[in-house]
Amino acid sequence: MNIILLGAPGAGKGTQASRISRRFGMPHISTGDIFRANIKNQTEIGLLAKSYIDKGQLVPDDVTCKIVENRLQEEDCKNGFLLDGFPRTVNQAEALERFTHIDVVVNIDIDFALLTARLCGRRVCKECGETYHVSTLNGKTNCEKCNGELHQRADDNPETVQKRLDVYLAQTAPLIKYYTEKGVIKNFTGTDEPPEVLFQQIEKVLEEYR
Ligand code: AP5
Ligand code: MG
Repeated sequence: MNIILLGAPGAGKGTQASRISRRFGMPHISTGDIFRANIKNQTEIGLLAKSYIDKGQLVPDDVTCKIVENRLQEEDCKNGFLLDGFPRTVNQAEALERFTHIDVVVNIDIDFALLTARLCGRRVCKECGETYHVSTLNGKTNCEKCNGELHQRADDNPETVQKRLDVYLAQTAPLIKYYTEKGVIKNFTGTDEPPEVLFQQIEKVLEEYR
């Protein structure tokens, strides 16, 4: 099962991805996570990516596509994978088609009015990447899963969030039409349901593709 998770910044892609990959046993490939790991390790790709991510812009397609193409050739992707945050442009989607096929695109639709609060309140585990929101942490500063320290992403501030949203509307939202026309999209609403309820809805649909 080869899956794409599509949605605006803060729609809940990472939150659902960790549940889907645990449930169906497939690697969770987040281009955002790959860039952040490169930034942490101060690689050449990391330095380049940081200059775009800090401004809320997309990292150039050629760099991003090459990373994904290489990652999908790894052994753990042989029986399926879950792409989170890729593709993000029609150009990336066309490149992806040249090196693999996609069974289903899970699109999480979201009320944009919620996004700033969601993203600015997000906390992420430095060790395992698990995602939380301050509203449910009750003051805890460590990860429930691995006890790692929680931190705030550098791009989760109101100014950068607004830019990421603008970029989403201009460059990523056209993918909804693109995959609708290909007949592979499944739409979900990430606005009202808590993560566990949304996951049950997604799980039910993905069961049909096994
Ligand atoms: P990336 O890391 O992918 O960020 P993003 O797309 O902006 O998405 P987020 O990770 O912010 O949101 P999410 O949908 O995963 O939400 P989450 O589950 O965490 O990319 C970062 C940057 O890298 C980009 O801006 C770009 O520069 C670069 N990049 C990455 N991929 C690229 C590509 N393909 N091409 C070019 N550049 C690329 O949830 C958010 C919060 O909401 C959390 O606090 C969570 O607890 C809460 N929440 C989640 N679900 C619910 C729910 N159902 N109800 C209530 N709260 C919820
Ligand atoms: Mg994410």
